[in-house]
Amino acid sequence: MAGEATARLRSSRGNDAGQAAIGARRATEAASPREPAARCIAERTPRPPVALYVHVPFCVSICPYCDFVVHAGRAARGPGARIEPFLAALHAELDLRADALAAPPARSPLRSVYLGGGTPSLLAPRDVAAILDHVDRRFGIAAGAEVTLEANPGPDERGDLAGFAAGGVTRISLGAQTMDAAELRRLGRRHSPQDVLVAIGVARRGGLASVSVDLLYDVPGQTRASWRGTLRAILDAGVDHVSAYALTLDDPDAEGITGPAGDHLPTRPGARAWRDRARAEQDDDRAADLYADADGLLAEAGLRWYELSNWARPGHESRHNLAYWRHEPYQAAGPGAHAFDGVATRRWNAARLDRYVAALTATPPALPPGGVERLDHETLEAEEAILGLRLREGIEAAVAARPAVAEALRWGSAHGLVEDAGDGRVALTLRGRLLSNELFERMLP
Ligand SMILES: C[S@@+](CC[C@H](N)C(=O)[O-])C[C@H]1O[C@@H](n2cnc3c(N)ncnc32)[C@H](O)[C@@H]1O
Ligand code: SF4
Repeated sequence: MAGEATARLRSSRGNDAGQAAIGARRATEAASPREPAARCIAERTPRPPVALYVHVPFCVSICPYCDFVVHAGRAARGPGARIEPFLAALHAELDLRADALAAPPARSPLRSVYLGGGTPSLLAPRDVAAILDHVDRRFGIAAGAEVTLEANPGPDERGDLAGFAAGGVTRISLGAQTMDAAELRRLGRRHSPQDVLVAIGVARRGGLASVSVDLLYDVPGQTRASWRGTLRAILDAGVDHVSAYALTLDDPDAEGITGPAGDHLPTRPGARAWRDRARAEQDDDRAADLYADADGLLAEAGLRWYELSNWARPGHESRHNLAYWRHEPYQAAGPGAHAFDGVATRRWNAARLDRYVAALTATPPALPPGGVERLDHETLEAEEAILGLRLREGIEAAVAARPAVAEALRWGSAHGLVEDAGDGRVALTLRGRLLSNELFERMLP
């Protein structure tokens, strides 16, 4: 793969679309049929959410590369912890968001719930169970729904995995990042490779039906040998799902998204210096090799790619994330979380925890500050094609025929980036997965 600049790899960022719209985070597909993508966008009407993302903004410590909405240290643990006020506010937000919807059974219950962060595994199992009970009462959770909780692997961060399973969690997403001890230290992680193996075992014994791990590549100091070692160690542990993300080193301040209504918190000065140093060690060609290594090793072990950054054993694909990529409507709660109405409107909560708590714990409770964006027709058409092309299933013929999309696909076909996926569908080749940003940029208005 050397010699190919991999702009795409920069965009395969962190997990949750609930926090990041187009760049963006699960088994009864039957609960609410998908709207045919080709149906004219102008004719669509907002639909009730099929998925719910809940952002839990607490971590024991903050990793220097992370720009998710997170509070750490005293905010997360001990007598001054802000978890209780956050939970009170979260429950109030769930009520206000549900008030705007018809009650079940007038609409289908949720097919997935995703508790992301931050480190939701810092919550007590009773708090997780209370959130899920509340969601079930107000939104409805379908029988067999996928309920994911993100956990850090360290002994003081992974929480009570069996307790979470008993409270309704079906799937765990473990932030392993790498199985190389030196790389973990460089990333500022608190856990060891052994902690990851222990956490996977505890999750299995605790009754979690699906175990996923997050990995990072293009990490400073990473080599192909260390990355292959990480992949082998994770595969030997017997996981069901792997997300492998290229380390992205953005500056949300420079992007202008850290203001009062912004969905990010200001970048910490130490983090900016760390990112500057780490960026200097990144290499697109090496990243492309690492991506191809991951794809080969994961496929050999029976984990098939189904989205640019995601591989799964059959039946363990993330149903929650599939809703994002298929442009389905999702609701979201918690600071910095993003929701989509399934047509054209995104809204988000501002990142600041104090304002989030103040608004929702006022009498009467009010929705927290945030923003709304209505996407224009051209952007929506492009976004739908881009999200669809992230998936192995690709896009249907009618989406591929939209003028701006068709023109980009002709370019992509001439350069070996896309192929016929049967039934008129178009999908990315491996080369296309490596260079997808170059293709996607051509589709945007
Ligand atoms: C935001 S974290 C939340 C879960 C948990 N606290 C953890 O660290 O694993 C979810 C995932 O986002 C990914 N992530 C975080 N920062 C990233 C970055 N700068 N670039 C790429 N992926 C990132 C990591 O792989 C991480 O596992
Ligand atoms: S533990 Fe996860 S959410 Fe917390 S700072 Fe690190 S990457 Fe971000």
